[in-house]
Amino acid sequence: MAKKVAVLFVCLGNICRSPTAHGVFRQLVLNQGLNERIQIDSAGTAAYHVGKAPDSRSTLVAKERGIDMSDLRARKVDFGDFIEYDYILAMDEANFNHLKAMALPEHYSKIKLFLDYSQEFEEREVPDPYYGGATGFDHVFDLVESASKGLLAHIKQQNL
Ligand code: 4NP
Repeated sequence: MAKKVAVLFVCLGNICRSPTAHGVFRQLVLNQGLNERIQIDSAGTAAYHVGKAPDSRSTLVAKERGIDMSDLRARKVDFGDFIEYDYILAMDEANFNHLKAMALPEHYSKIKLFLDYSQEFEEREVPDPYYGGATGFDHVFDLVESASKGLLAHIKQQNL
């Protein structure tokens, strides 16, 4: 069987934005019967929250929208990720730059801004919701849902 297409979502803490992307994209992939073809994970560029479940504010918004991500646990990006993953999707420019600084030039083309795959939103960054109010988490979900759909359409066209 062909190697799976491997997708890694990356934010700062791996407790808000990237686990939301992980949970949403995983459900889309499952709904389309593609879970044997696509490998999914998420990670953070910082280690502050390693081992923790997603932030309860993210988990609640996701649950309200039919996504269960309570099984996910935070981890930090490591060098092996640049070899293993085909799509390394940064939630914002700071994480994008951090990933580029960690990677070898031969891996640069795998690193992209996740929102480049959104058809509906002009924004390029998923804003960090950690220190803001509840509406920030809803907006994160909307952006993530849009980019997840665009990403899956792209992968189906390019890789499957
Ligand atoms: P995330 O959000 O990068 O979307 O997981 C954050 C989580 C924690 C912190 C910042 C952002 N923090 O500073 O602890």
